[in-house]
Amino acid sequence: MALLGALKRNPLECWAAPHFERPIVAGGLPIGHVLLVHEPGAIRRVLLDNAVNYRKDRLQRRVLSAGLSDGLLSAEGEQWRLQRRVIAPMFARRTVMDFAPAMLAAAEALVERWSALEDGASIDVAPEMAKVTLDVVERTIFSDGFGSDAEDIRKAMTTYFNTIGRISPLDILGVPDFVPRLGRLRVQATLRFFEKEVDRVISVRRRMLAEQPDQAPRDLLTHLLEALDTGGSGGLTEAEVRSNILTFIAAGHETTANTLSWALFLLSQSGEWRERVQAEADRELIGPVEDMADRLVETRAVIEETVRLYPPIAAISRVALDRDELNGERVRAGSLIVISPYVLHRHRLLWDRPDAFDPRRFLGAAQATIDRFAYLPFGTGPRKCIGSSFALQEATLVLATIVRHFAFRLRPGHAVWPMLRVTLRPANGLPMVIAMRSLRDPDRCRPAERGLPNS
Ligand code: HEM
Repeated sequence: MALLGALKRNPLECWAAPHFERPIVAGGLPIGHVLLVHEPGAIRRVLLDNAVNYRKDRLQRRVLSAGLSDGLLSAEGEQWRLQRRVIAPMFARRTVMDFAPAMLAAAEALVERWSALEDGASIDVAPEMAKVTLDVVERTIFSDGFGSDAEDIRKAMTTYFNTIGRISPLDILGVPDFVPRLGRLRVQATLRFFEKEVDRVISVRRRMLAEQPDQAPRDLLTHLLEALDTGGSGGLTEAEVRSNILTFIAAGHETTANTLSWALFLLSQSGEWRERVQAEADRELIGPVEDMADRLVETRAVIEETVRLYPPIAAISRVALDRDELNGERVRAGSLIVISPYVLHRHRLLWDRPDAFDPRRFLGAAQATIDRFAYLPFGTGPRKCIGSSFALQEATLVLATIVRHFAFRLRPGHAVWPMLRVTLRPANGLPMVIAMRSLRDPDRCRPAERGLPNS
């Protein structure tokens, strides 16, 4: 019962010392036999080499993708394979680089909002990061905007994310789907609202593509509509286009927002890295935009270290279809395999100073020493995150833009604690005291002179 309570309150609090010290921990939950797997070879077997034997489990599909059953995140088998093939080019490096101006524009809109605040104002940066990533979603999926109901759509999105994240004890007890979960009823109503709005935006764009194709923006919506099945061409159905729009919003918005919040928190604790990232931003946030993120090498290392310490998707799970063996442990048909990037990335057997913030791990030759199955912020294997380049580019550009314009420090006395609610977010927000930096004379507002902590 205590475990169920913790799972509902904050599943992160269920991890104990042995999980961070042992390669595999086996145990039982009311839902059956569970293996907590944090050994690179075993992870490779589950997510890559023998991935056909492990499918996404009911609990993860239920929590992560409530209502998005036709989208890439939760589709299975042939439907998933077809979607992955059709959608992959939309997130290829070249296409993602074309989105850099839209990402920077969203970051600059945030700078404009914050510039209107009084110097030394205290704001909760967590919802601010959600706003900027939602703005990126809006500019890259529907570059002509959500339309007149934009604010209602944003509100609905917040309700959706606040509700789907809670694991219902009924889910853990394996109570069948037809038993209604209270929160989920609210999600269904919100989803119906989304679907209606997305249909409206799709029909406007389809008209434009039919009547004035040259005028249509080259955003994700146009790419998806161009991938529509036209009489057996092997493309997407209309329902899949709609589900994937919702999937991109759901999978891409909170994850990146939390990455940015945690990066600001970690930088607020490290004078050295704050200065390094500021210097890089002052130097590199000029010139061609498309490859700007590639030039922000240290900022990107900060993001990669951030998603090591605070991986937004803190647990990946699969169910075994047939018997197997992982690192000498027996897997039964039906066993639940849980791989937690949060535990893996802080595992005592795999990392040197696992809890220390050190972006040097991701610079130069050091990066090559990281076992690719010990670092999984975006998963791995066939179901690896399709939006990883998009997210890394977005987070790098937004973080650099923020540090270029603002000095910031954690509001004194605020205790920061991670909470898992679909994504890993700071419980009780992240209040920061912010002040404008003068770009003409960056030295004028060095953190020390503004009384910001330098450690
Ligand atoms: C920092 C940001 C992000 C993180 C940490 C993240 C993490 C992940 C992880 C761990 C998975 C694999 C889950 C599993 O194997 O069970 C995944 C899958 C996925 N992600 Fe992301 N993601 C991020 C951003 C994005 C963005 C920006 C998009 C799209 C706009 C996106 C779309 C998807 C989709 C569609 C899948 C399912 C892929 C498939 O099953 O084929 N993600 N993500």
